[in-house]
Amino acid sequence: MLIRRWRNWEIPEREATPESVFAGRRNLLKAGAAALVAEALWPRDLFAASDPTAALYPAKRDNAYKLDRPITPESVNTHYNNFYEFGMGKDAGDAASVLPIRPWSIQFDGLVEKPQTIAIDDLIRRMPLEERLYRHRCVESWAMAIPWTGFALKALVDYAKPLAGAKYVRMQTFKDSKIAPGQRQFWYPWPYTEGLTMAEATNELAFMVTGAYGKPLAKCFGAPLRLATPWKYGFKSIKSIVRISFVAERPKTFWEALSPSEYGFWANVNPKVPHPRWSQATEELLGMGGKRVPTLLYNGYAEQVAGLYTGLTGENLFM
Ligand code: MTE
Repeated sequence: MLIRRWRNWEIPEREATPESVFAGRRNLLKAGAAALVAEALWPRDLFAASDPTAALYPAKRDNAYKLDRPITPESVNTHYNNFYEFGMGKDAGDAASVLPIRPWSIQFDGLVEKPQTIAIDDLIRRMPLEERLYRHRCVESWAMAIPWTGFALKALVDYAKPLAGAKYVRMQTFKDSKIAPGQRQFWYPWPYTEGLTMAEATNELAFMVTGAYGKPLAKCFGAPLRLATPWKYGFKSIKSIVRISFVAERPKTFWEALSPSEYGFWANVNPKVPHPRWSQATEELLGMGGKRVPTLLYNGYAEQVAGLYTGLTGENLFM
């Protein structure tokens, strides 16, 4: 990283917040309730004014994906977001309400049979929508459990028809500093970019998200299209995607470009591999009065994904 600026999501809240406040975070639920009241008084523009695919929600739940913890209340989740395009605080999701999400299109390019651009609603209508309950683990050591709606990334890969030389999928967020004030901060490598290997992208767990809590995706969650890779730290789950490229070289990702010694390409969850500045052994379940639980290898999804990494010696798989 060229300029050492501690972005607040890099600092665990126990370091930034007095212990009494951090340990309990008792106030989060109260804050959630207060937020609901505020919402009633000053409604935020969480959704598209007009969403042609709204009737597709709620989608049928796929019961293969089970949780070991309660679903995080929606009111907690919509008030605790990381969305650096709109600011560095957890309330950046509020600022994201200015993001226009229709019309919106997704560009496919790179090593594909035919580069193309498709309107988001046409894409959503072509994909097999379902609801999945997923754990969501941030590198900052907080966690949520979310009913996402969307479709397997594999379906999108099949739709894009990549060529044999494609080894990685690179995804990019929009770039428009007139709308997103965070993008005026020149020291960040905008646009936000993430990547997966083809094997990861076609693993059954890799999910493209278009909705949550039985509704179209709220802007604070990265509408109209975001990624969910629940076995990885949350920063891999890129929001508000506009471009998907199939490439031969491993893409340089947003946080890796900023601080390669702390945030890598793989970012798989592992309680035994601490972040250079804090432990990853436990995580706080947001909305549960400060409750902490042990972190699980691959965030509890080892059975589905551990095999992706056999033989990858010499790689920093867990950062
Ligand atoms: N995608 C974009 N475009 N911009 C971001 O700032 N933050 C990442 C990820 N995707 C981010 C992003 C981080 S650090 C996390 S933990 C998750 O989004 C947060 O998702 P949530 O706000 O839905 O919990």
